[in-house]
Amino acid sequence: MLNIAVLVSGGGTNLQALIDAQNRSEITEGRIAVVISSREDAYALERAKKAGIPTEIIIRKTYASQEEYDTALLEILDRYQIGLIVLAGFMTIISGNVIRHYENKMINVHPALIPSFCGEGFYGLRVHKAVLEKGVKLTGATVHFVNEVCDGGPIILQKAVEVLPDDTPEILQRRVMEQAEWKLLPKAVALFSEGKITVENGKTKIREDAI
Ligand code: GAR
Repeated sequence: MLNIAVLVSGGGTNLQALIDAQNRSEITEGRIAVVISSREDAYALERAKKAGIPTEIIIRKTYASQEEYDTALLEILDRYQIGLIVLAGFMTIISGNVIRHYENKMINVHPALIPSFCGEGFYGLRVHKAVLEKGVKLTGATVHFVNEVCDGGPIILQKAVEVLPDDTPEILQRRVMEQAEWKLLPKAVALFSEGKITVENGKTKIREDAI
């Protein structure tokens, strides 16, 4: 059984989607072993506790250096024998040191169709604001492996979502979550834990029988 760590900073609706998928037996080869939060007050922690999942809190600014933070984070991941890290709205930058330890074993959900509206500064509501400012008619979500380029790792799954005339960033964020993120992330976790995703030349391949 694959041990999964879900890293969170906020509301944790993507964490909830993973918990629900696990409870519906849609993720059979893996289980959420720990939820790690970058904030003490993240509502995601309540969701984890309700589901009986162990929680850890690790706050970057309480460490004197990046190295000390990395050591502490790696220690937690080691302790739970983690084989897959899921960034589900995790707002602390993960250093190259940690990324290299978990090459092709760390995935992120991004609320846009990468390579649009991604990279440094594009997170949370800011992404949806930028989408509305540009006036694109389609946006969506992307689940991808994490490498050292911000939002630049191999793409696993994507789903398009319509932008509607009266959208506000909040309304659009909710639609992207409902129609794309909450479906894609559990699906990607299930595929990964079943060993159905491979990476070749910076691109993913998903085994035929998988979808
Ligand atoms: C989600 O929309 C996720 O895609 C986004 O933060 C939100 C977290 O919501 N992540 C990023 O913007 C990363 N660049 P949640 O805490 O309710 O899952």
